[in-house]
Amino acid sequence: MRITGTGHASMRIDTAAGSILCDPWVNPAYFASWFPFPDNSQLDWAGLGQTDYLYVSHLHRDHFDAEHLTRYVSKKATVLLPEYPTSELEDQLRELGFTSFLKTTSNEVVELDGGLRVMIQALTSPTDGPIGDSSLWVEYDGVRLLNQNDARPTDLAVFAELGHVHAHLLQFSGAIWYPMVYELPQVAKTAFGKQKRERQFDRTFRYIADLEASWVFPIAGPPCFLDEELWQYNDIAGDEGNIFPDQQVFIDEYRKIGKENAVILLPGTVARLEGESCVTEHPVDDVRAFFEAKEQHLKEYAQRQRPVIEAARASWRHPGIDVLKELKRRIEPLLDESVYLAQGVAGPVRLDLVTPDGADGEVVESIVIDFPGQQVRRYSDEKVRYRFRTERVLVEHLLHTEEVDWANSLFLSCRFSAARIGQYNEFVYTFVKCLSEERLQYAEGWYAEQRPDPEDITLGDWVVQRRCPHLKADLTRFGIIDDGVLTCQLHGWRFDLASGRCLTSVGHELRSRPAAQPAV
Ligand code: FES
Repeated sequence: MRITGTGHASMRIDTAAGSILCDPWVNPAYFASWFPFPDNSQLDWAGLGQTDYLYVSHLHRDHFDAEHLTRYVSKKATVLLPEYPTSELEDQLRELGFTSFLKTTSNEVVELDGGLRVMIQALTSPTDGPIGDSSLWVEYDGVRLLNQNDARPTDLAVFAELGHVHAHLLQFSGAIWYPMVYELPQVAKTAFGKQKRERQFDRTFRYIADLEASWVFPIAGPPCFLDEELWQYNDIAGDEGNIFPDQQVFIDEYRKIGKENAVILLPGTVARLEGESCVTEHPVDDVRAFFEAKEQHLKEYAQRQRPVIEAARASWRHPGIDVLKELKRRIEPLLDESVYLAQGVAGPVRLDLVTPDGADGEVVESIVIDFPGQQVRRYSDEKVRYRFRTERVLVEHLLHTEEVDWANSLFLSCRFSAARIGQYNEFVYTFVKCLSEERLQYAEGWYAEQRPDPEDITLGDWVVQRRCPHLKADLTRFGIIDDGVLTCQLHGWRFDLASGRCLTSVGHELRSRPAAQPAV
């Protein structure tokens, strides 16, 4: 089996029984804020695109690059489709010209021609990616690979049971807007960023330890930020609060826990797997030297991409759009139907639209999404649950394109700032990624079906429910207790054990009691 690194979460897997191209991403995503790092635009995409199978793990724009798929990927390729609750991924691929789909069932192995076997695990909670994220397992001639990319399975047992895995490819770096966009003192942002960076590594190490693969490939990040406005998000200034560490930083951290089996996939790296061996050829002589020259690489890359960013900026402006009127038309029918999400938000959310000078611009319009009142209206000097501040042109563009997922566009762009009263509220972000009838209904149904977990476990001096109240991670594996607080390492949520209160988000109470105290 041969793996060719093609940048970010993308790779091509070649076997004698066929090739699979995964998540090819080249064009900037999220309002031209994210670019693949390192630059992968010079690869032979015409050749790479002649593939037998295409796997797009999910609809996040750094995995689903419509322009690139249209231009370079053979429409004769059979799409390996995860089992998602909505048909959006299939619909969007069909629109690009793909016609051959192999609809997989989550966690079931599919036998393809020539002895190639694949299995896709689809994660389907409303907080998994854009309503769905997935991992691909591949086996050929006794060699097994798990492309976990940025999916967060609650455990990897289903893959481990299929036999020893030789290559484990997974995310290790950040892919979110937290904490950078929050209006907090810099010292607090640095402290939160540092915590987040450490948690990302801990979670990655946990997954690696669970699967015990022969070789580990850190992939699916970090992106790079080539627009001057976002340049500070690149991890080049030695900032310990930066959540976007690169592959070399990961390898160095991984070595600190005594591990030497990680392999970097640069765009163009070829890794040949045979039994336990992995022979790697890189497109550069010295990988460490490449990362040491990262800042120069980014500066030259930014220079090349400047016209692309300028063209994108010019396309966002639609001054004829009446933003309040359009938001009312789009959002009020959804507020009418929302039960669990509206109750979860439980307050107004304010949107400040500013002139196009980044988040520092002057406020030209202030609008409230009033969840309890089920309406969208002008802000009237009231207390709000969250406040978002962004350029008006970005919202004009979201409305112009009828975007149904603002997390997969505005929020991941980091071209906004946020302030909140109280804790993080996942319902706010779930609502803004469900701005269509289909998505909203699915999310509402999902929350309606959540049941408390009946099983208890003992962790240290405490008895707690086995499954995390967030997304049901097994706390025997992901739970750690420190000073009366349980942290679930899957997403880092924290729970006060004495009260069961979730310290990270509203709701989501944990059942807990001291082990010495009998159950009531
Ligand atoms: S499953 Fe997300 S923090 Fe536990």
